[in-house]
Amino acid sequence: RKVIFSGIQPTGVPHIGNYLGALRNWVKMQREAEPDDQLIFSVVGWHALTLPQDPRKLLQTRNDTFAALVAIGLDPERSIIFHQDQKEVLYFTRTRLAISRNANDESEVDESMLNTGLLTYPVLQAADVLAYKTTHVPVGDDQQQHLELCRDLAESFNRSTNNSLFPLPETVFNPAKRILSLKDPSAKMSKSARDENSRILLTDDTITIRNKIRGAVTDSLSGVSYDTEARPGTSNLLTLLAGCLDEDVHAVAERYKDKGHGALKIDVTDVLEETLREPRAEFFRLRADPGHLQALADKGAERAKEISQRTLAEVRRLVGLLTEF
Ligand code: TYM
Repeated sequence: RKVIFSGIQPTGVPHIGNYLGALRNWVKMQREAEPDDQLIFSVVGWHALTLPQDPRKLLQTRNDTFAALVAIGLDPERSIIFHQDQKEVLYFTRTRLAISRNANDESEVDESMLNTGLLTYPVLQAADVLAYKTTHVPVGDDQQQHLELCRDLAESFNRSTNNSLFPLPETVFNPAKRILSLKDPSAKMSKSARDENSRILLTDDTITIRNKIRGAVTDSLSGVSYDTEARPGTSNLLTLLAGCLDEDVHAVAERYKDKGHGALKIDVTDVLEETLREPRAEFFRLRADPGHLQALADKGAERAKEISQRTLAEVRRLVGLLTEF
């Protein structure tokens, strides 16, 4: 039996990197799951506190993130969808680290950004995963290291308690596991990059998609080919296209070998529009009814808590801290 878990930060409407790298795989796994497999997806509110946040804005983006998960086709009946922060995880991620600094240290890091959350983040992520005895974690490329730590922690707990309470969770990737910035193909597409044209959001309208793809950085070589080293921007467009079409990127590249960037960009735009049309409409429909979303979130949190409390009771029993059972 599979237990599938994954999480997303409460950063608001996801971008196409989140979608092709992870979220779409969540929906696919939901579709392909066996009846007794369990699927659990979380908006990880506590993780946001690693950085300073404006509380009003965070509340909005947190709720938008949840709405997006439902909008892309996660079914709140089949899957448990919940806000991590609705569970009683008391986590002091904001505690400042006392770090003695050199007077002439010219590091760019703002001291207010150095808090324990930076260190505890991967541990909190491991707790997310292990609380449900997860067996599979569908994520993008950048989560690889965090999940290795998670497996280490699970293994060492199992060993120290001479038990096999925690399965070692397997990382599950999509072919499009790393989507790059449209403006700087040496970086991954990210929510925090200053330039909004560097990413496509699930809610972008047709014209916005067209303009962003038209402005995507490619290269001055002629023709189109898939070569992530020499042609990262062009290859990224091919990855987007193949990701949306759910086809092999080399097969897609083959079809464009006698065409130019212009033709590729037109097709990427069309396919993105096609891919985003439904989730976009569904997102705005859902967001118009916050009460309904809250009810879904409450239900999800309740179901999630039931499972994690059971795990926690087992942990307590194994380490000798359970007072009643
Ligand atoms: P987050 O919110 O940064 O991203 C959510 C998911 O989207 C993937 N992703 C990408 N995939 C391809 N290309 C990109 N440019 C791109 N950007 C983001 C991420 O890999 C991720 O799968 N630490 C996690 C949240 C988390 C979590 C967990 C995940 C907390 N607890 C437990 C799995 C299990 C994060 O910051 O994701």
